[in-house]
Amino acid sequence: MIPIDLEPLTADEQAHEARLQAEIVAAIRAAGGWLSFEAFMQMALYAPGLGYYAAGAHKLGVGGDFVTAPELSPVFGRCIAQQCAQVLESLGGGQVLELGAGSGALAADILLALADMGQLPDRYEILEISPDLRERQRRHLSTLPNGIRDRVFWLDRPPTELFRGLVLANEVLDALPVARFRAEAYGLTELGIEFADGQLLEVARPASQLAVSWLADTGVELAVGQEIEWCVRLKDWVAAVTQSLGVGVVLLVDYGEPRRRLYSPDRSKGTLVAFHRHRIHNNPYINLGLQDLTAWVDFTAVAEAGMQSGLDVAGYTTQACFLLACGFERHLAAWRSQLPVEREPLAAREALRLVLPNDMGERFKCMALTRDYEGPLEGFSIKDFTGSL
Ligand SMILES: C[S@@+](CC[C@H](N)C(=O)[O-])C[C@H]1O[C@@H](n2cnc3c(N)ncnc32)[C@H](O)[C@@H]1O
Repeated sequence: MIPIDLEPLTADEQAHEARLQAEIVAAIRAAGGWLSFEAFMQMALYAPGLGYYAAGAHKLGVGGDFVTAPELSPVFGRCIAQQCAQVLESLGGGQVLELGAGSGALAADILLALADMGQLPDRYEILEISPDLRERQRRHLSTLPNGIRDRVFWLDRPPTELFRGLVLANEVLDALPVARFRAEAYGLTELGIEFADGQLLEVARPASQLAVSWLADTGVELAVGQEIEWCVRLKDWVAAVTQSLGVGVVLLVDYGEPRRRLYSPDRSKGTLVAFHRHRIHNNPYINLGLQDLTAWVDFTAVAEAGMQSGLDVAGYTTQACFLLACGFERHLAAWRSQLPVEREPLAAREALRLVLPNDMGERFKCMALTRDYEGPLEGFSIKDFTGSL
């Protein structure tokens, strides 16, 4: 993929990029001249006040850089709510913790649908790393009716008190920083950056013993020249955000694959991409702090991380199968019936993108991890691909 006709940056954006580049260059120097890609991605996305998620870029939606399922259609949230309602009913009530809630659209859709179903959670907690998005969520959710909005709370860190209910994350795993590696004839190298001639340059170094052992443990054999990503912090992150779930379900939705497909030689350059104003390209070193960086999720690693945190893998399926099992057609019909006639065809096309195989339907997967939960999970009733992990 080659960068194509990317929009030029405004003077303010160029100044923002220069400030972040100065911080990255300082980090390269402090690290002895070479910074791992993972550390670079952490800064590009989360450097306080400057990283993509830590600063004021519009990010989600039509005026932003990318569109997520809840931004595309409320039918997504209504289907997720149906699964939540089933879990909350089986547990006799409980609470929801949403991770990385974006604009707040998913939270609003879920809460309104749960209110209709008479299954509102006691609390709907949001753990959001971005101060800017947290503010947007507050504004969005303040429009909910009384009795719903007063159940919404923001957390500064993962909860420490045990609760029963659900943990939800849509498109959050793909935003966790990844390390990148390349297989060379002489061994594994790790990609990182140096600063020379006024520019950030990608430079490979021999990979650490930790990375070499990790790759050996996966059993994956790479072709010479093949590049892959590894989300090193996934295990700790899953442990941290699920530690207080005493009884219930963790529902994770994201684009990804089982490990052996993700690391197959057809993906010779890995899966890392950048999004800038709805254009996708493969240069992470431009538009610093102004473009999203994201990599596909290794769902085998997510299952392993869940098991290491004492969770069971209760289901893994495509987004299409999940949404259809959660009443997609019924929820779409209900949504259409609420719209003015002229809005209906576009709304239907947008919702269908969620399930079409060559759009989000098969690229995106849903995984359920459970703790002491014996109840049903209707989202996984059409087809469960757990055996493919
Ligand atoms: C691609 S956006 C998805 C937003 C939303 N879930 C949606 O579907 O529209 C990623 C979200 O995860 C948040 N995020 C990233 N890393 C996080 C972390 N470690 N903890 C909590 N939120 C995080 C971002 O700030 C953002 O809200």
